[in-house]
Amino acid sequence: MLKDKVAMISGSASGIGLEIAKVFLNEGAKVVFTDIDQDKLDHVVQSFQTKNFECIGIVADVSDEEDVKNLVNQTVKHYGRIDILINNAGLQHVANIEDFPTDKFKQMIDIMLVGTFIMTKYVLPIMKNQQYGRILNMSSINGLVGFSGKSAYNSAKHGIIGLTKVTALETAQDGITVNAICPGYIDTPLVRGQMEDLAKTRNVSINQVLDEVLFPLIPQKQLVDIQEVADYSVFIASDKAKSVTGQAIVIDGGYTAQ
Ligand SMILES: NC(=O)c1ccc[n+]([C@@H]2O[C@H](COP(=O)([O-])OP(=O)(O)OC[C@H]3O[C@@H](n4cnc5c(N)ncnc54)[C@H](O)[C@@H]3O)[C@@H](O)[C@H]2O)c1
Repeated sequence: MLKDKVAMISGSASGIGLEIAKVFLNEGAKVVFTDIDQDKLDHVVQSFQTKNFECIGIVADVSDEEDVKNLVNQTVKHYGRIDILINNAGLQHVANIEDFPTDKFKQMIDIMLVGTFIMTKYVLPIMKNQQYGRILNMSSINGLVGFSGKSAYNSAKHGIIGLTKVTALETAQDGITVNAICPGYIDTPLVRGQMEDLAKTRNVSINQVLDEVLFPLIPQKQLVDIQEVADYSVFIASDKAKSVTGQAIVIDGGYTAQ
């Protein structure tokens, strides 16, 4: 469904970004892997290049404007266009507001919200010039509902939904669609870290954390399958989804239905 589309995916050296990249490559897209972690990025890109997939890796911190300008310029130099942008880079820190380091709060907003803005800012002129584009911003169920201890994450993810709506309105007549994806809990390194922290503070096993903390919140009593998020992203990024824009698309096993 994505034959020869050029897709730039931030935070694609791990987790959801990596899974989306894998599925996109299998769908025929050319993928620009980008991440702040050089070692993980090199390893991932090499593993796909040796299997003859068309992809490159460019290190960038999405919150650094110069890095992003370089990322976009290098991509256009190499592939000549950018059809799909997935703003996926993210991180987590959990603490109550009184104990939340202000620097950490600023860093998380900078990477997840300002980073999404900066990436969009430099990719939009290219998409407008093409009169074609698909932007997917990785929000979360935490973009729709609050969760104690996640002041920075919730603020960034709520902000991403607002930014998504504005970007969709500003590009509505340019053949560009812009949507936020809001997954529930998926078993990735980011969520594993949270579960391990909870297991340590409660002195229980990971399975007990699932049964006692997470599953009571999830009607389907299971984590979201990472593959489902990647498959959904293929559809939203494809030519078929041309009037889905400005939406917060929720994949959460019923979490936010309650
Ligand atoms: N795992 C979940 O359950 C879940 C649910 C909803 C939303 N999300 C969101 O999905 C996205 C991916 O999360 P994940 O679970 O795959 O996490 P992950 O930790 O596996 O991957 C995140 C990637 O982002 C990269 N990154 C961090 N800061 C960066 C920066 N400044 N510039 C560029 N890259 C940077 C990391 O190096 C890492 O490779 C995040 O935005 C997260 O908030 C995750």
